[in-house]
Amino acid sequence: MSDLNNVTALVTGANRGIGRAIVDALLARGATKVYATARDVDTLAGLAADPRLVVLRLDITDADEVAAAVAAAGDVTLLVNNGGSLAFGDLLAADLTGIRSDLSTNYLGTLAVTRAFVPVLRNNGGGAIVNLLSLVALGAVRGMGGYSVSKAAAASMTQAVRAQVADLGITVHGVFPGAVDTDMIKAFEMPKTGAPEVAQAILDGVEAGEEDIFPDAMARAGRKVWRDDPKALERQMAAI
Ligand SMILES: NC(=O)c1ccc[n+]([C@@H]2O[C@H](COP(=O)([O-])OP(=O)(O)OC[C@H]3O[C@@H](n4cnc5c(N)ncnc54)[C@H](OP(=O)(O)O)[C@@H]3O)[C@@H](O)[C@H]2O)c1
Repeated sequence: MSDLNNVTALVTGANRGIGRAIVDALLARGATKVYATARDVDTLAGLAADPRLVVLRLDITDADEVAAAVAAAGDVTLLVNNGGSLAFGDLLAADLTGIRSDLSTNYLGTLAVTRAFVPVLRNNGGGAIVNLLSLVALGAVRGMGGYSVSKAAAASMTQAVRAQVADLGITVHGVFPGAVDTDMIKAFEMPKTGAPEVAQAILDGVEAGEEDIFPDAMARAGRKVWRDDPKALERQMAAI
């Protein structure tokens, strides 16, 4: 998708963090319409008033809400699968509830929304799907074991779906951020990139046709290590 001007987009988890920044950035780039979706539509009240914004309720783990979103947003050409969860804990000791929840949201929820919207994009002559993954998909972090697994699953899904929809004129972009300054990792004292900067880099990557987008300095440093020596990235991430 070489130009996001005049795109009609749907963003999941648009009420805060990276999702909200992507909505703002899409509007600034001249999107025709942006469906800003959230589990609780009241949390979208803080978005800038703009006639191009359409607010929708969407919990990506709820099949009925996914179907309702498709029915309401049949003109979408850009799907941004941003909504995600992070349950801290290691794989050997953490309660399985959080491990299941991250898998259910980050992998199965993202897959459900993708499956539902591929026919919409196809009917609209093609488009793009953007999946918010994470650097942890390429090198697991012990204290985020279940989250790492869920993002690795979503990364593999991204590849499989990319191959399946290539003939439909749909591009699929995986995004591998490092540390971004949002609620998700607010407990961590470490250098973080602001969500607005990350959102711009993601959209730049989509416009440039990049399949794998590394939208911040930590992500780009990780990409270099990963390209040179994937085992080095594994060790680096395991040391966090
Ligand atoms: N922050 C980072 O360092 C970082 C790094 C790599 C990747 N990411 C990824 O970037 C994406 C955005 O994260 P963020 O940093 O902006 O985190 P955030 O501020 O915690 O926001 C997470 C968003 O996901 C939504 N969400 C959670 N479960 C959902 C569900 N079942 N259905 C729909 N929406 C749901 C949340 O909605 P509620 O407000 O209703 O909870 C919220 O809007 C996530 O996929 C995350 O894994 C973040």
